[in-house]
Amino acid sequence: MRTFAPGRVNLIGEHTDYNLGFVLPIAIDLGCEATAEPDAEGRLVVRSRNRNETRSWEIRTLDSAEPAGDWTDYVVGVARLIPDLAATRLSVESNVPTGAGLSSSAALEVSTALALGARERGVDLARLCRRAENEFAGVPCGILDQYSSVAGVEAAAILIACRSLESRPVRLPAGVAIFAINSMVKHDLGVSAYSNRVRECTEASQILGVPSLREANIAMTETISDPLVRRRARHIVTENQRVLDFVGACERQDVDALGQLFFASHSSMRDDYEISCPEIDFLVETARRIPGIIGARMTGGGFGGCTVNLVREDIAKAASEILRDAYHRQYGLRAEIYHVHPSAGAQILEGKKS
Ligand code: GLA
Repeated sequence: MRTFAPGRVNLIGEHTDYNLGFVLPIAIDLGCEATAEPDAEGRLVVRSRNRNETRSWEIRTLDSAEPAGDWTDYVVGVARLIPDLAATRLSVESNVPTGAGLSSSAALEVSTALALGARERGVDLARLCRRAENEFAGVPCGILDQYSSVAGVEAAAILIACRSLESRPVRLPAGVAIFAINSMVKHDLGVSAYSNRVRECTEASQILGVPSLREANIAMTETISDPLVRRRARHIVTENQRVLDFVGACERQDVDALGQLFFASHSSMRDDYEISCPEIDFLVETARRIPGIIGARMTGGGFGGCTVNLVREDIAKAASEILRDAYHRQYGLRAEIYHVHPSAGAQILEGKKS
């Protein structure tokens, strides 16, 4: 069996997923391919072609496997959730950059789950993979990444309502292209800072007496006396509204509004949610001054990784290069640019089981 699952770029709606709010990702044309063959020796053998590394576990002891703290946790985390897993040799190869906020881990989880014979599809498959990440990899993430990888739509973004888990495609106005630029930095606050944000949001919803911040409004958040918790809640509430406004602006083909919402989302992440960093702020502020770039904001979990840029299609390449060169002059780092296109979700490429 050979499977493919894409990474994603989240256009807008950051950290709203675990607060049961709205997100608007695209699945991208970068992803992970997994190939599974039977193993004669009762093992799960996993080979990463990118890293040229092979690891293996006895199938019968997989339940007692401990997380290794590396890429194999995403594979083993998924494998443990598949009932009656057969002994398998799995080979994975990905072109999603790691640590860039483009969901290389979700692409690995989803392609693995399908290749190992998971029967779940759609939202249930996304849930299974999220569970693997929460329970085995130990990241208290929401469902954004896995849902995007499973349910991507060609030529459209997907509006996901994380409370009902319903989604619908949203098309960008004609002539608007998307590129992500990788700052090549990932400040090591990652998982602990993410967990803190999850905790602070839970605290905010408890203070407000609502099941999740999806049920809060801006007036309510202003009553929170702790300034830090108040800022966190304000980001979530305003970000949910920006997602809905962004969808409205797409429908009206109001390109200027799209750009303003991108920049406003970034300011909110920087000032209220405090998940940006100087390199990323530089990429956003520089993008603001480059003709043809409509809007820019950090995408993904934060503290580095990529910004996502909306750009006039006819000058996307030139505009992205101006940004890359400015970044190089400032930080001496060679940022990678990904001109991405909204793409279909995960699929079985070969060897579908009956
Ligand atoms: C990471 C998590 C997602 C989401 C984003 C932030 O990618 O895995 O669930 O919370 O950060 O929007």
